[in-house]
Amino acid sequence: MAKYTVVAMPGDGIGEVVLPEAIRVLDAVGFDAEYVHGDIGWEFWIHEGNALPERTVELIDKHKLALFGAITSKPKNEAALELSPELRDEGYVYYSPIVALRQRFNLDVCVRPCRSFPGNPLNFIRRGPGDTVEEPEVDVAVFRQNTEGLYAGIEWTNPPKVVRDALNTHPKFKFFAATPPHDMAISTRVFTRRACYRIVRAAFEYAVAHGYKSVTVCEKPNVLRETSGMMEEEARKVQQDFPDIELWSTNIDAQMMWMTKNPEDYGAIVSGNMFGDIVSDAYAGLVGGLGFACSANIGDEVAVFEPTHGSAPKYAQLDPPIVNPIAMVLTGAMLLDHVGETDKAEQIRAAVAAVVKEGNVRTYDMMRIPGGPRSIEQGAATTTEMVDAILAALASGVAAGGDGS
Ligand code: NAI
Ligand code: MG
Repeated sequence: MAKYTVVAMPGDGIGEVVLPEAIRVLDAVGFDAEYVHGDIGWEFWIHEGNALPERTVELIDKHKLALFGAITSKPKNEAALELSPELRDEGYVYYSPIVALRQRFNLDVCVRPCRSFPGNPLNFIRRGPGDTVEEPEVDVAVFRQNTEGLYAGIEWTNPPKVVRDALNTHPKFKFFAATPPHDMAISTRVFTRRACYRIVRAAFEYAVAHGYKSVTVCEKPNVLRETSGMMEEEARKVQQDFPDIELWSTNIDAQMMWMTKNPEDYGAIVSGNMFGDIVSDAYAGLVGGLGFACSANIGDEVAVFEPTHGSAPKYAQLDPPIVNPIAMVLTGAMLLDHVGETDKAEQIRAAVAAVVKEGNVRTYDMMRIPGGPRSIEQGAATTTEMVDAILAALASGVAAGGDGS
């Protein structure tokens, strides 16, 4: 029997392409796991009225570890039109299965490492002194609170009277008092102390493990005094247990400016749900974009690992596939980190680094050419060729020797 059982949920579109490729890499480093398939995605919405069938929830509940590809998601009205005819008017409402997973298992800590691999033509560069060009080495991990804040879904258009009455007790609400209820939309931003504590603590622990010198709380405490303020308060408390790590504070808007001036200055960055979503995408853009962006959703018991990208439907049917598997492969490495198989995770990252540095095998996104059937004629590697190159780097020992890091 294998040491680990991982629920493999390819999902939709390119999720079905990249997930098996990542498993090839996990097998190659000798990860002792068996994979059980989990149904998730659009097909299950259409035929069952639920994109996250209960049997999949049960599998994850049992095995606690899941690798996820991507799903196709659509606004609820559009989704309703695609429901199979016998399910229509049965009261089914579409919910994104990944959001549902995060809530169902309280996967409140989202980690999104953004590390530049030298030689990646997509890396951020900036002007240096004179005519020089600098390519700073970015090595940031964004910690995004995954279950609360503006994305918790507590919102109304035409809020019920009790809600309005409650808001009326706040002096600042007078400004809105004359607005008719049906002309008013409200999205709430709820933070809890426990969730703030957990995300900040996770960031500090990661900072220690990765040799970062700082944890930055990236919020907006001068304006969002209560919610951002609570995150900062918890960060100051947690920092007392980590005297060697500096605690910095930035405003999300200023951070978006500084990250393109001096992205190499930051280590772990902690934010609430929405700001974390923003800052992690922005950092991912500095290190290669969606083809490189990996992530983990971690709860107390369950952890689900997924690339940041979606199902990219326009590339899903291409044969051979052309999308970049590196995001999914690095996501697999995060799973290894999580279960304590860090040597294997490092081998994978070193093999990816070696392939990127060598530069002979590049998917279309790395060549900055349009994706499509013609990209291969233009010299782009297929998804499979990229993984083959990573496997060859592993086999050549580059990953074990540290040469490729
Ligand atoms: P997307 O991430 O699927 O694709 C956006 C563009 O990024 C693609 O057209 C492609 O040019 C590029 N891209 C994405 N992954 C790539 C890869 N591995 N290699 C090379 N290029 C890559 O986002 P989009 O187009 O906004 O959404 C498509 C579907 O995916 C939608 O239904 C959306 O709801 C869903 N989605 C799902 C997510 C998830 O599963 N967690 C996250 C984001 C979107
Ligand atoms: Mg996002």
